Amino acid sequence: MEETQGAVNGEASEYEGSVDVLSPEDLSELLAAGTKEVHEKAENTQFVKDFLRGRIRKELFKLGAVALYYTYSAMEEEIERNKEHPYFAPLYFPQELHRRDALARDLEFFYGPGWQSAISCSPATQLYVDRIRRIGREDPVLLVAHAYTRYMGDLSGGQVLKKVAQRALKLPPTGEGLEFYQFDAVHSAKGFKQLYRSRMNELELDPETKQKIVAEAVRAFQFNMEVFDELDEIGKSIPEEAMDAGLPVHGAGGDISKCPYYAAKTAAGGGTEYACQVAMAVLRHPTGQVLFAAWVAVLAGLAAWYLM
Ligand code: HEM
Repeated sequence: MEETQGAVNGEASEYEGSVDVLSPEDLSELLAAGTKEVHEKAENTQFVKDFLRGRIRKELFKLGAVALYYTYSAMEEEIERNKEHPYFAPLYFPQELHRRDALARDLEFFYGPGWQSAISCSPATQLYVDRIRRIGREDPVLLVAHAYTRYMGDLSGGQVLKKVAQRALKLPPTGEGLEFYQFDAVHSAKGFKQLYRSRMNELELDPETKQKIVAEAVRAFQFNMEVFDELDEIGKSIPEEAMDAGLPVHGAGGDISKCPYYAAKTAAGGGTEYACQVAMAVLRHPTGQVLFAAWVAVLAGLAAWYLM
């Protein structure tokens, strides 16, 4: 397969404009329909909702990258083991999709050169990893479900998540720490997803096996949700001080309505969101609070003098 990688991207761009005639029995359609409900649940986990609002603690983001590193390491090792298996070979796109090396670079950025001894696999991630390893050895056709759940999801939302994280964590615009989200060998995510769907539909599978794959994909979503919930729990024990300091990310969905300046600004029908953000950032710090109190006292004094 690796010799065909050049052709594959050409194929992907060709796919972008084309319309496949799909049938409800096609695996891509069964997967989309069968995971719709669990996808909605995943979107609504607290961790994912906070992430999308730009409310990301840096420590949690790093632990999320660690969980992904163990997950993709297991998945890609099992994919390598089964790359010639007729049930997986058409979906083997190491150059375009594989994330392990990108995640290793992200972890080196966050934890430094000794990153490998600084990380460990969490209990929820370990269960996910154990499942991937087991099916890789015992029932490799189910790897299709795990590859679908992760890679198609990454290609669907990666760029949005990358921008949110970059802004909230103030990561360099050059992309360090966020290589996981960058698919350099995929020129068109849309075209590539269409190619991947058509490859899934070409697998020679009986209806029962297709149903097993859909059930496994639901399970893969559940493993991801377990990891999110675990991160959310860990987040509760991380003190506020350890949260990434800085301006709130209202633009990405932060709760601007809680800002006292925002109500006044809205009532006055003017002002800027930026002024509110600066005020909030200043008020978070003790020095800012003292200066604010002094400023209020001076204003009160002036008002009293004027009224006398
Ligand atoms: C707030 C979180 C999420 C949002 C807003 C979101 C949004 C989307 C959107 C808009 C698509 C459709 C893309 C298209 O039509 O090409 C999509 C597809 C997909 N997402 Fe998500 N997603 C979220 C979380 C997740 C999670 C946590 C996973 C799994 C771990 C996931 C897995 C997938 C998969 C597998 C697809 C492909 C569906 C298909 O075409 O068969 N998503 N997502």
